Formats: sequence, C-alpha cells, structure tokens
Amino acid sequence: MSTTATLAAAAATASTPRTSVPAFRARKRQEPLVMLTAYTARMAELLDPHCDALLVGDSLAQTIYGLPSTVPVTLDMMIAHGAAVVRGSRRALIVVDMPFGSYEESPEQAFRSAARVMKETGAGAVKLEGGQSMAPTVAYLSARGIPVMGHVGLTPQAVNILGGYGARGRGEAEYARIAADAAAVADAGAFSLVIEGVVEPLAASITDAVACPTIGIGASARCDGQVLVVDDMLGMFDRTARFVKRYDDLAGRIQQAAQGYATEVKARTFPDSAHLYGVPGGA
Ligand code: KIV
Repeated sequence: MSTTATLAAAAATASTPRTSVPAFRARKRQEPLVMLTAYTARMAELLDPHCDALLVGDSLAQTIYGLPSTVPVTLDMMIAHGAAVVRGSRRALIVVDMPFGSYEESPEQAFRSAARVMKETGAGAVKLEGGQSMAPTVAYLSARGIPVMGHVGLTPQAVNILGGYGARGRGEAEYARIAADAAAVADAGAFSLVIEGVVEPLAASITDAVACPTIGIGASARCDGQVLVVDDMLGMFDRTARFVKRYDDLAGRIQQAAQGYATEVKARTFPDSAHLYGVPGGA
C-alpha cells in the first residue's frame, strides 16, 4: 500500500474523536498529558496513538531545516508542516507554534496570523512565547475563538535577548518574573502553558498556582504533562540539552542502514531477484 493510501486509510477508520481543547484543559491534576513535537504526516501518524497533543514546534528550524535558531522560521513554513501533521493524525490535539515576528507587534497582527494557521492547517490551537507582555494578545485571541497555549521560562525565540539556551529562574528576580509571566498568561485565558528550561521548584510552584495544565520541558515531573522535541527523544542529534532523555539511537540506526545499502550497491548484491521485475514468461 502506498504512503498516501495508508494515511487515507487511517483517516477513514477514524473512530475516536480528536482531543478537544476543553478535554485537554480538564486534565489538570489528572493523568499526565503526553505531548511530542511532530513536523511531518508520517511521523504524526506514528506518534498519534501515544500522544494527547502533537506540537508542530518552530523547533523545525533546527530539526528539519538546519537553521541556527527559530528566529528565521516563517508563517508559511509553520502552515505547511501544520497541515501535514493534521493530515497524518486523527486523535491528538494539534498545536501549531506561532513563529517569531508573526504575533508580537499587536493583538490584531497575532489574530491575522493565528487565523491563517487555524484555517489553512485545521489545527486545534496555537502556541506563542512570552509572559506579561503577551497576556493581552492571549486574551484577544482566546476571546475570538483561537485557543492559545502559552510558553514561559526559556523562550527560544528570545535567544538574542537571553544570550543562550541556559536554564532560567536561578536568580530571585528572574524566578519571580517567570512566576508572574506564567500567572499573567494563564489568567489571560491560555488553555495550557509550556514551561521550558527553568529550575525545578519554579515549575512545580507554577503548576500548583495556575488553573490550566502545565507542560514541562526541562522543568519538573510535577508538571501536568511533558513535551520533548521528537528528534531529540529519538536520538537524532549528538548534542542535546541536559533535560533530553534519548529513548532510541535513530541516528546510529540510520547510519547503519545507509552503510548496509551502500555496501550492497557497491557489491551489486542489491537489487537482488526479490526486488526486481521479471519479464513475463522469462526465467
Ligand atoms: O518548538 C518547539 O519544539 C517547542 C517545544 C520545545 C516546547 O516550543
């Protein structure tokens, strides 16, 4: 069966409804929420049975496009990958990252960009980075039918201000500011909050304080759920942040497979008869 046919069959046999934003939100202090990033239809199809939500993260900058940061990512890139992930999945809530420059200028700019994402991908929600300064935008979008997942702590789109990707909240002032950021975004109506790269007690105390589920990445096991970048979790990269746990060594296995293929091509042992079309009536 072709890849296209497989995906179509998956969609046709869909029986479980997609996780809705209210259902996701209702998981606060319940069974932990499982989220992974996904960028392609086939990967979404593989992850979907195991995840409550799939995040089409702007981490595709590094995982797909080999860019040095998420700053160059465009709305068109997010929409193309968001639509692919929606097509490949059937039960997970799909959340698409708003890329740098597509929402910070004003709530109106954010609405125009987020409405494109929702219309052109079929995703259920968007995610945007930022704290107190983004709270009015979160409220504006939420009041107009666009569910927003917030993202506080280490916010990679602000790398040029932060100066790197180190853990946040080590000093008293920054600890207090991130706690206030989380409260502001949650109070503005975010249905969930990603907390990235902060000291563990801060993530735990935000989780206790806010009404919406928190999703940790380099944060705390006490968060209401966890997310990882799927390529990191699968072992696609040699260097990853301390908080990444590798559940596989896909890079090693891909290299092994490529080496096996190259060896057989050079030895002319591939293609063998099992992988060739014979002439009708021929030997
Ligand atoms: O872009 C991304 O993958 C993210 C996660 C790291 C939360 O924002």
